[in-house]
Amino acid sequence: MIEINNVIKEYPARGKGAAVTALQGVSLKIERGDIFGIVGYSGAGKSTLLRLINGLETPTSGEVIVDGKNISALKTKELRQARQKIGMIFQHFHLLWSRTVRDNVAFPLEIAGVPKQKIDEKVNHLLERVGLADRANAYPSQLSGGQKQRVGIARALANDPDVLLCDEATSALDPETTASILQLLKEIHKDTGITLVLITHEMSVVRAICNKMAVMESGRVVETGAVEQIFQSPSHPLTRQFIYGVGTSEEQAVKEGGRTLFVSLDKLPQLAQIAKDRGLTCQVTGEVSEAEESIQVTLSGENKEVEEAVNLLNRR
Ligand SMILES: Nc1ncnc2c1ncn2[C@@H]1O[C@H](COP(=O)(O)OP(=O)(O)OP(=O)(O)O)[C@@H](O)[C@H]1O
Ligand SMILES: [Mg+2]
Repeated sequence: MIEINNVIKEYPARGKGAAVTALQGVSLKIERGDIFGIVGYSGAGKSTLLRLINGLETPTSGEVIVDGKNISALKTKELRQARQKIGMIFQHFHLLWSRTVRDNVAFPLEIAGVPKQKIDEKVNHLLERVGLADRANAYPSQLSGGQKQRVGIARALANDPDVLLCDEATSALDPETTASILQLLKEIHKDTGITLVLITHEMSVVRAICNKMAVMESGRVVETGAVEQIFQSPSHPLTRQFIYGVGTSEEQAVKEGGRTLFVSLDKLPQLAQIAKDRGLTCQVTGEVSEAEESIQVTLSGENKEVEEAVNLLNRR
């Protein structure tokens, strides 16, 4: 359904800022009917990737194929048609505040030139689907966050898209509302077979509804595969960090020459001083264990310095 081949995306320098390479050679395959989760920290390039999929941005090199069409090679009219088959929802909803719920959902249909009566039928059906039939004449400002996102979803579905792109669609919502929106997306997926691409920084979201996933870091995909399999045996440190909430700094430290150790809390100030004297970085990488009153830290720097620091600490 969606094929991303070796995509590089550079944003040219703006003002005093330097040019940014937001994507550094990304390849991904998303099958029809997948619920595909993309996770990564801020700035990893997730939103850029979504904007390439719906043709809002063009790749600097590489290609983005959606439903057999090379999105960046399409002429204006074809691109408009292709885009109508790709819906999108956002963290901050992007609703039209001066329009009612009904008119927000009608908007894409008006643009597509659908006759009035058809629009009414379609909008009623969509509002019914997202559970907002009784709020049709309300304004977005009168709705809760979850309801606003339901309007966003109804609007995104107006042109019967084959793909729905969700950019942090639940990040502004509380856990309960998040669960209800995910449930709605799941139902829509079941009813329509729509392909969902879902950006999030919460693994719980991925676990709740995705079948495939990719982890992104600094413009690259560092791990991708079936959700079940990745949760069972995550191979990249960043994936482990997302799943277990720990991992990266510790493993990087060991790789670069470093050591993880448990230090009693009362020795921590001494360790910090020793580390500082030797130009080592001392990071807390684990939990405090209450019983032993100790904490896991990682010392990183030159191997020899790290060893000496540990010895010194042990002698005190
Ligand atoms: N229009 C733009 N012009 C210049 N640089 C941009 C533009 N859009 C994004 N960037 C830069 O590209 C990189 C990737 O940004 P992107 O928004 O894709 O990341 P993201 O993973 O979606 O992050 P977040 O989780 O914060 O939304 C960042 O360094 C960002 O500053
Ligand atoms: Mg983003």
